[in-house]
Amino acid sequence: MNVAVLASGSGTNLQSLIDSAARGELGPARLAVVGVNVPDCRALDRARAAGLPTLVIDHRAFASRDEFDRALLAALAAHAVDLVVLAGFMRLLGAEFLARYRGRVINIHPALLPAFPGVHGQRQAFDYGVKISGCTVHFVDGGVDSGAVIAQAAVPVLDGDDDSMLAARILAEEHRLLPAVVRALAEGRVSTEGRRVRVQGASPTHEALRSV
Ligand code: GRF
Repeated sequence: MNVAVLASGSGTNLQSLIDSAARGELGPARLAVVGVNVPDCRALDRARAAGLPTLVIDHRAFASRDEFDRALLAALAAHAVDLVVLAGFMRLLGAEFLARYRGRVINIHPALLPAFPGVHGQRQAFDYGVKISGCTVHFVDGGVDSGAVIAQAAVPVLDGDDDSMLAARILAEEHRLLPAVVRALAEGRVSTEGRRVRVQGASPTHEALRSV
């Protein structure tokens, strides 16, 4: 399974996928290409350092989201991509892109969806005062963080936390959960019935719960 990872920022989730692949923990998933929309982002450095093929498509060069999406689709076409992983990719993908990769685009979100979708999920949860938060890997549909949930990992919110401490605790779980989901997808262990997603065998959600 050829995986494209799209990122915009620091790329620590990309790094966790790179490291998992190096340890042979992604099963039959292979990181085929990394695409970024921010030309000088740290994710791009990480991809290059790992020797992965890269695509740099600066969204500012396009007049509309559709045009950006089309450029991205055209660039990905050369890499026979089976799965698109959004790992801190700060762009919404339009209908044409999602139709091309129907059911094959996943995202990681730093909150327990459906709570706190959108940007700064960690800070939203912290400000709300929840006692448990975490992260969610979900299929991407046309909405904002609204697609079917594949796996979740929970973390406690501690009394002495500030929002960055909570974000760091969540991020550590993201780095475990995302590679586990990519592996499960690559191994063909994920099936979907409407909004309900089943992961056969080792469940990333249950493994994450054991480590709380
Ligand atoms: C992560 O918190 C992820 O959940 C969110 O964006 C952040 C990306 O971090 N979608 P990084 O670029 O992987 O370090």
